[in-house]
Amino acid sequence: MKIIRSVQMMMKEVANVNKKIGFVPTMGFLHAGHLSLVKEAKQENDIVVMSIFVNPLQFGPNEDFERYPRDEQQDAKVAEQHGVDILFLPTVDDMYPDELGIKMTINQGTDVLCGRSRPGHFDGVITVLTKLFHIVQPNHAYFGLKDAQQFAVVNTLVTQLDFPVQIVGLPTIREGDGLAKSSRNVYLSKIERKEAKSLYLGLKLGQKLIVDGIKNPATIIKEVKKFISINSSGKIDYIELLSFPNLKSITTINQQVILAVAVNFSNARLIDNVILNEEGSFIDRIS
Ligand code: PAJ
Repeated sequence: MKIIRSVQMMMKEVANVNKKIGFVPTMGFLHAGHLSLVKEAKQENDIVVMSIFVNPLQFGPNEDFERYPRDEQQDAKVAEQHGVDILFLPTVDDMYPDELGIKMTINQGTDVLCGRSRPGHFDGVITVLTKLFHIVQPNHAYFGLKDAQQFAVVNTLVTQLDFPVQIVGLPTIREGDGLAKSSRNVYLSKIERKEAKSLYLGLKLGQKLIVDGIKNPATIIKEVKKFISINSSGKIDYIELLSFPNLKSITTINQQVILAVAVNFSNARLIDNVILNEEGSFIDRIS
């Protein structure tokens, strides 16, 4: 595995390669969720590039940029073991050498879910991905549907601005008890870790209600809210049921939807979702 730390070197590396490039952008502290994206990328491309870059632009002033977990050595080991060909580890100074004189803003699909709770977050995500896509020039880029709103936003970016990349959304990888794998799970206390499974159990309860024929989003949200608040000490930020991928509010379930939750525990904000068709069956791959 080649490790590249400079933007210029990375651009040189892919200039004139006649190979299909699969790209997995991450912020590191790798877990099985990230590695599932690598596995898929390996199957569909000639080389796999993974980036690890904790992007300051997508963190709000009171968020966890400084204490976001980092372990470069372990990540490099794991990435190599899983067949990453090029690990791109740019520095903040190289990615953002000067104050940015250009601002990217995304308005579509960001007035709901995390977009509402984290103003500016998705502007930071599309800015860094624009840079990374230009630097790496991938044919395919792989994203987890655990961050479904991020997937929707990236889809808007690449389709509306004609990026020559195909994006692929892949299933959420979970712990044995259903908790979605996340780099932030290390910040849960022992008790919170036990309670955290209630996010997914709550979502599954909502899914079952849809399978049982309940069509009213408000009824489903109420039940999920009740379940999660009884079973966890975390503070619910949102529980929403929207159309997917356009993230519009709906009055009845008659199309593909997302049921999504965000819960603030004492030191970690966790998100999770399920994407369902009209009948309540799980959708877990989008490409
Ligand atoms: P990060 O949180 O490190 O996630 C990198 C990728 O891994 C994202 O596509 C995310 O959806 C996926 N992922 C995380 N947990 C997952 C899980 N349990 N199952 C499946 N996939 C999972 O998302 C980011 O970084 C950043 O916003 C980034 C896209 C790199 C831009 O800075």
